[in-house]
Amino acid sequence: MRLDKFLSETGCGSRKEVKRLLKQGIITVNDQIVKDAKSQVNEWADQIAYDGEPLRYQKYFYYMLHKPQGVISATEDKYDETVIDLLSDEDYREDLFPVGRLDKDTEGLLILTNDGQLAHRLLSPKKHVDKEYFARIAGIVTEEDIEQFAFGLTLRSGEAVKPGQLVIDAVDEAAEESEIRLVIQEGKFHQVKRMFEAVDKEVVYLKRLRMGELYLDEELELGGYRPLTEAELAMLEPSN
Ligand code: URA
Repeated sequence: MRLDKFLSETGCGSRKEVKRLLKQGIITVNDQIVKDAKSQVNEWADQIAYDGEPLRYQKYFYYMLHKPQGVISATEDKYDETVIDLLSDEDYREDLFPVGRLDKDTEGLLILTNDGQLAHRLLSPKKHVDKEYFARIAGIVTEEDIEQFAFGLTLRSGEAVKPGQLVIDAVDEAAEESEIRLVIQEGKFHQVKRMFEAVDKEVVYLKRLRMGELYLDEELELGGYRPLTEAELAMLEPSN
């Protein structure tokens, strides 16, 4: 690839800024100063350094974000803060995007990446990747709801959804509130909220806990993020 592309992709700045660095003679390729932005480098084999510091090329980036309420799962928006706006200047890259969507008022696990194939594998309905949610529900969730969810529901819109595994964590009879966990494999628009609507209940708080075998790191504060480890990345690979 071109040297200026390599430098901007390894975080040295925009193409324009990189041109300036090159002019200053502080970029070396295999210990030789190179000033030509157009010169070709092998990003995997050549030793490229900025002021003596080796630069390492990375093609794909993967972050786990603890999405807070109030931000939207998009790369840019005219009015609202997006999940990409939560990245520091150092970590920001133009090609990062969220894998799927959580509603503006949903919290929890969201993967940010520039790896389109991973996103496709995680979101494809054919891959049946588990998504586990915790929710607080207005209403008393019953055994009958568990059965209905396990059988597969028809939403109010008339759309059928595949079975979901519903577990009741707590029921507060006096407050008429329940806490549940639900595992589904699909990712239809507002799916969890609409599944509860189909059994005449309302989701008042929703948080995604898991995708595939990857759990949200509860040490991450709301709005916090960190790179995925190699082991965590492997957990995201669907087995079928
Ligand atoms: N289901 C919903 O209703 N909302 C989300 O954000 C995710 C799943």
